[in-house]
Amino acid sequence: MIVRTFICANFILSLSHITTHVSEAKSQPVEKDDKFLSSWIVLDIGMASGLLLQEVSKQGFSDLTGTDYSEGAIDLARSLADRDGFSNIKFLVDDILETKLDRQFQLIMDKGTLDAIGLHPDGPIKRMMYWDSVSKLLAPGGILVSTLQGDYILQPYKRRIGARGGKFQSKERYDIPRNTERPSPFRYLNQVRTYPTFMFGGSVGSLVATVAFLRN
Ligand SMILES: C[S@@+](CC[C@H](N)C(=O)[O-])C[C@H]1O[C@@H](n2cnc3c(N)ncnc32)[C@H](O)[C@@H]1O
Repeated sequence: MIVRTFICANFILSLSHITTHVSEAKSQPVEKDDKFLSSWIVLDIGMASGLLLQEVSKQGFSDLTGTDYSEGAIDLARSLADRDGFSNIKFLVDDILETKLDRQFQLIMDKGTLDAIGLHPDGPIKRMMYWDSVSKLLAPGGILVSTLQGDYILQPYKRRIGARGGKFQSKERYDIPRNTERPSPFRYLNQVRTYPTFMFGGSVGSLVATVAFLRN
């Protein structure tokens, strides 16, 4: 788990290069600087211990909010953050499915929370509620970094990337909004490529996926 936290934090740092390109629409490399990162408004949904927020804080992000619907998780995260000198991180009790948050974020992280939501007997409906909330909370041009068990989230994308130029569509396990009437609010950006893979039935898979999506 700790290793995944480091991998996610480093991946997020690497994305800042990409988004510098996106925002400045230039092809030459642009150096990231701490001032740029500290301007990002960051939300971690279902942050539990809050350790991922601590890691991204070390990378230079400073406007950090963690939410969880468990008061116990909030208490734990707050006490760990105080102990470790990250008292700038804000923690709030909030259910992402009925969120009370009234601001938008430029970076939203989710490590395992959508997985947990999907375990509910009403998982399919709750996952759709989740995507609806996330699409409202993520500012246009913002990034969602989602870490999930398995790489199901990527399967439909992998099939379509060539044909559709990267438009993300899925009706599979995670119910990411499909391109039906309206264009999908999310576009695939990048993914962690260092997780171990395995081969089953002739297909290559992974036990975990960390994927970045851009909010259109
Ligand atoms: C698998 S844990 C992941 C914790 C943390 N992100 C990590 O990487 O260690 C899932 C977390 O999501 C929280 N959670 C589950 N459903 C939620 C919801 N609807 N709204 C907010 N938090 C939720 C749980 O309380 C739990 O802390």
